[in-house]
Amino acid sequence: MNSIQKWILDSIKKNNSQILKSNDLSLPPKANPEELAQLYTFSALIATCMDFLIQQHWIQIQSFPLQKIQFKNFLSAYFENELRPIFFMKESLLELQLVDIQPILKLCQMMAELSITQMKCENFIFKKEFSISVLKKISDFFEHENQMLIEKNKINLPLEISLYRTFDALDAAFDLDYKQDIGMKVDLLGTERLYEGAGIGVQSGYSTVLTALRYLNPSKNSRFIDLGSGYGRVGFVVGLLRPDIDFIGYEYVPHRIDVSNKTSKNFELQDHVHFHTQDLSQIDFKIPEAEIYYLYDPFSKETYQHVLSQLVEISHRKNISIVTKGNARGWLLEISANEKWPAPLEFDNSNLCLFRSA
Ligand SMILES: C[S@@+](CC[C@H](N)C(=O)[O-])C[C@H]1O[C@@H](n2cnc3c(N)ncnc32)[C@H](O)[C@@H]1O
Repeated sequence: MNSIQKWILDSIKKNNSQILKSNDLSLPPKANPEELAQLYTFSALIATCMDFLIQQHWIQIQSFPLQKIQFKNFLSAYFENELRPIFFMKESLLELQLVDIQPILKLCQMMAELSITQMKCENFIFKKEFSISVLKKISDFFEHENQMLIEKNKINLPLEISLYRTFDALDAAFDLDYKQDIGMKVDLLGTERLYEGAGIGVQSGYSTVLTALRYLNPSKNSRFIDLGSGYGRVGFVVGLLRPDIDFIGYEYVPHRIDVSNKTSKNFELQDHVHFHTQDLSQIDFKIPEAEIYYLYDPFSKETYQHVLSQLVEISHRKNISIVTKGNARGWLLEISANEKWPAPLEFDNSNLCLFRSA
């Protein structure tokens, strides 16, 4: 157990089943970026795990109303799998009762929020180090989740815990203000799908981008292009973890590009992370060659056909990878069958797929 994990445990013990107010709480003084990142990731993770336990307990009571649930036995079983990333809490949690779980959930939510508030007051060098630390840590948590999902699928059971939204507050480090969409003109007759006002719901989850990056394992100095880059989350993850990669994001909506480029500059990523306002349906625009293309449900049917025909053409000259999130998979399955590409790697029940042209 490291010093931050110990600090979290001590705070939980001191809390002693009370629901605290946020001004009763203070963070370790002078936490450096790595320590604050640990505090944020573990607090956010524990909060999700506590919520999971409360839900599972409720489900068990509904399923077996006559059976008395022994809290210790109930809890122990989860430390083998779902709660493995918070194994350092096992002994302490086993001494507790169900009523203690809700206050821990609340306390950890407050600690996560406070960590983000504290990080926001720091300069960009701190924020950059904080973000890199968080991304590296949560990448391992997502991989653990991925492995659990594979095991559950083998026995046809759903995975009840999900970390997909757990670390969304990291957006604050990147100053991602989705409210900029408010007032955006909707072109009701336009053919492009711009997801006006859909905010965080239409940005790739950190889990998706980190899992894609882990399994793509791009070679040094590759180029990575996000086709319809939204507010730029994909670019920040790639740019921070792989500074050798040349990242380009193209996006139709100019104010999203402004937000993305501002963050890229603040984080001093502007040498290798670029975002451009571009309507990819334009016939005279040619998509540059790259090793990796990323598509999260961006286009209308016509634009998909136009964009994908260019990617196929490029794949005849060089090996490429195409990452799909969501429905873009359907288009790529058709293409990969026609082009005789190998079967894609699939994650998160096919929500994320990695296609390779060879
Ligand atoms: C679902 S979002 C994905 C955002 C980002 N790639 C991510 O994964 O976080 C799809 C984005 O594609 C953009 N888009 C739609 N049609 C486009 C077009 N013709 N040219 C460029 N971008 C487009 C939308 O405005 C939207 O921001």
